Amino acid sequence: MSVLLVEDDESIAIVITAALEAEGVSVSRCDSIAGRDRLLSERRFAALVTDVMLADGDGIDSLGRVRELRPDMPVIILSAQNTLDTAVRASDTDAFEYFPKPFDIDELVRTVRQAAASSSSQGLLEEDSGGQGLPLVGRSASMQAVYRMITRVLRNDLTVLILGESGTGKELVAEAIHQLGHRRAGPFVAVNTAAIPAELIESELFGHEKGAFTGAVARHIGKFEQAEGGTLFLDEIGDMPMQAQTRLLRALQSGSIRRVGGREEVRIDTRIIAATNRDLMPMITAGQFREDLFYRLNVVPINLPPLRERADDIEALARHFLTLAAAEGLPRRQLSPDAVDLLSRQPWRGNVRELRNFIYRLALLAREDVVDAASLAPLLASSARAEAEGEAAPTVVVSQDFDSCINHWLATHKPAPGAIYDSALAAFERPLFEQVLRMTGGNQLRAAQLLGINRNTLRKRLGELGVDAELLNRRL
Ligand SMILES: Nc1ncnc2c1ncn2[C@@H]1O[C@H](COP(=O)(O)OP(=O)(O)OP(=O)(O)O)[C@@H](O)[C@H]1O
Ligand SMILES: [Mg+2]
Repeated sequence: MSVLLVEDDESIAIVITAALEAEGVSVSRCDSIAGRDRLLSERRFAALVTDVMLADGDGIDSLGRVRELRPDMPVIILSAQNTLDTAVRASDTDAFEYFPKPFDIDELVRTVRQAAASSSSQGLLEEDSGGQGLPLVGRSASMQAVYRMITRVLRNDLTVLILGESGTGKELVAEAIHQLGHRRAGPFVAVNTAAIPAELIESELFGHEKGAFTGAVARHIGKFEQAEGGTLFLDEIGDMPMQAQTRLLRALQSGSIRRVGGREEVRIDTRIIAATNRDLMPMITAGQFREDLFYRLNVVPINLPPLRERADDIEALARHFLTLAAAEGLPRRQLSPDAVDLLSRQPWRGNVRELRNFIYRLALLAREDVVDAASLAPLLASSARAEAEGEAAPTVVVSQDFDSCINHWLATHKPAPGAIYDSALAAFERPLFEQVLRMTGGNQLRAAQLLGINRNTLRKRLGELGVDAELLNRRL
């Protein structure tokens, strides 16, 4: 079970996250309305816990957008503005509960669990009444085969191995199996094995005891234990170092783990889903991937076809992403038939992810509400160019989730003690600002609107970070 927490007060967010995670509820966190809407459009959550006063707006006034995206999700409102006005506004919404700060953390945890349980029983009804709960779009024959496989694993704990090129939707399939399956009340825990430095993998997966190694100042519960009662998603399994492969195999064979530096065997009760975009067979031949582990994982293989082999899904996916973009506040666009035709003939080497990014860019940059092939073509050409340049650049995208990125970044950059926050913030803001400025053709006002921050704040930060918006614009 996973909930979304929208809270800009770091210390409160940490306390709530810890209390919920201790109860087996996994928490995704953001601190803005824009972040909230993006996460809601990408994933399903059993409940939303939101603060009211946020940097980019009001958590109550903006609930309409939440309802557009997730009509039935329970909402719990937290607020430090203990005025009657906030209480009245909260009770005017269909919020599940309203907590003025300071609140009793245990009571909040109880309420979140209750709310989440009520929404997961609704999910069950949805599924019984025709399976609209499936977040995957596309009706091509090859996707039908994928859906059939998914339905076969919902009522059992067979290990699933999801194979497919990057961006084909492997993670989405893993989430769908969890959310529609019989373990949906438990947590969904994803680990990107490629993003964790080799020496930390075992402690990430299995946890460690206090003092197990230098720096192990407290006991750490690993992902296997965090996923107790739910699903553990082992992403990018093809990139796992050999030693960790051996330990993983042992855990799968014995059904139990031992924390690093620990003696106790801990029984594991979790469904394993693994995924990779690598071709494992040659890796097995080359001795880079354990054959016995492959057979352990490959109990139920699900192959996600590349998008170019299911061109008849492109129209539905494009419309789906246009709707998501509009729900996130971008202009609402439509595609003319010849535009759909042109989209369907593109190679989409980055698969659904590339199509999704392109459609968002289109929603932002198109000049007309109905986009035809003629206005689509130049945008396609410039994205193809950007992609080709991106490929030449030596940047390696190792992970899509922030948790893993942060681990990786800390391990590789080793920022000086006392400077971690500032250097992490700069490392995060620079590529974010550059990307958004590229999307707006260097227009700082539009970039600030899109980011949901004040234009002066943006200008100031660009100066501090030494990002030259003009230069960026000329490079387009
Ligand atoms: N069938 C689909 N319907 C709707 N959205 C999809 C579909 N397939 C993929 N997506 C979206 O495309 C993006 C990429 O999907 P995902 O992250 O699951 O890919 P992946 O196969 O795990 O890629 P990688 O190998 O790079 O990790 C996500 O935003 C996902 O929501
Ligand atoms: Mg993935």
